[in-house]
Amino acid sequence: MSAEVDYRSSLAEVAEWREQLEAQGQKLVLTNGVFDLLHAGHVRYLKEARALGDALVVAINSDESVTELKGPGRPVYTEQDRAEILCALEAVDRVVVFGEKRATATIEAIQPHIYTKGGDYTADSLIDEERELMERLGTEIRILSLVAGRSTSATLSRQAMSDDSTASGNKPRIALLGSGTGSNSRAIIEAVQSGQIDAEIALVASDVADCGVLTYAKEQGLPAIHIEPGTEKRGRLTDAACKEYTDKLKAARVDLICLCGFMRIVRGPILSTFEGRILNIHPSLLPLFPGVDAWQQAVDAGATETGCTVHYVDSGIDTGEIIRQSKVPIHPDDTVAAVKARINDAELVMYPEVVAELVAKL
Ligand code: GAR
Repeated sequence: MSAEVDYRSSLAEVAEWREQLEAQGQKLVLTNGVFDLLHAGHVRYLKEARALGDALVVAINSDESVTELKGPGRPVYTEQDRAEILCALEAVDRVVVFGEKRATATIEAIQPHIYTKGGDYTADSLIDEERELMERLGTEIRILSLVAGRSTSATLSRQAMSDDSTASGNKPRIALLGSGTGSNSRAIIEAVQSGQIDAEIALVASDVADCGVLTYAKEQGLPAIHIEPGTEKRGRLTDAACKEYTDKLKAARVDLICLCGFMRIVRGPILSTFEGRILNIHPSLLPLFPGVDAWQQAVDAGATETGCTVHYVDSGIDTGEIIRQSKVPIHPDDTVAAVKARINDAELVMYPEVVAELVAKL
């Protein structure tokens, strides 16, 4: 057996090597990714990337940043093993490890002649910071197309499907997405724990790092992650964030997604991948009072009753097919806070009931 060799190069070594290549009129290509379960799609992608220049450096996310990006259970292999496996490929010349979620600092240190990104990325998915940096460095950006049917998520999901050794068997898998206090997500978690909902919580995710939704889920020992919404205006997720949500939900092999006060528009690949399997709870009797602060809208309109609605999510704002509604009265002397609390009480009863019934049909 040969001795352990560390195949990871330092940024300084690679930066120096880049200078040497340039002096010889050669071009260095850089790409980055997780690469924790190598498949033929990766091999072809890396070959294509290498062919664009004279040398290829692959920057891989550190183990810690993979867990942060992809959720618990990832990476499949450690960064040291990933570096060794990648270096064994003909196309790969060096591997560096970076600890941040984004590769911006690595790009800056290496100053590659060509940068490639693969999969379902578009040049627009790169954050402004990365694009501006590469424009400044004169780095050419190349987006390489995805190899159909070969992705790490698909591989993991095939593997999970063939693995019947999971403790919870074949129970439907629910994801909870929320941004705030978390009373609805808590009600669903409690209903799962009590057996009212015969499912398991596969993932809890939020666009807000320190919200009640994540705090409670973590206390319960559930897989709970924060996914950056990106820099788009309030209520929007960037394309890159949509992709990250989709990747995480796919990796968690989710059957049903319950939005629990998730204050971002669900769109793009999240919607196309999970359409018909995403539920939302809204604090009004839709189609009345869609959007934000529905309780305030009801009071301002002088309504004598309001309530809450569970509906499927479509591409509109609170427009999807209605599944169930629950009414509550608005009394003349009610404060907005009292109306909000009354609606919330109704939500905490109705949402778990609806989820239990839908899950039973899965
Ligand atoms: C709930 O009242 C939910 O209906 C509302 O956010 C609140 C979240 O509370 N959702 C919307 O307004 C969606 N348009 P929670 O964090 O305590 O579950």
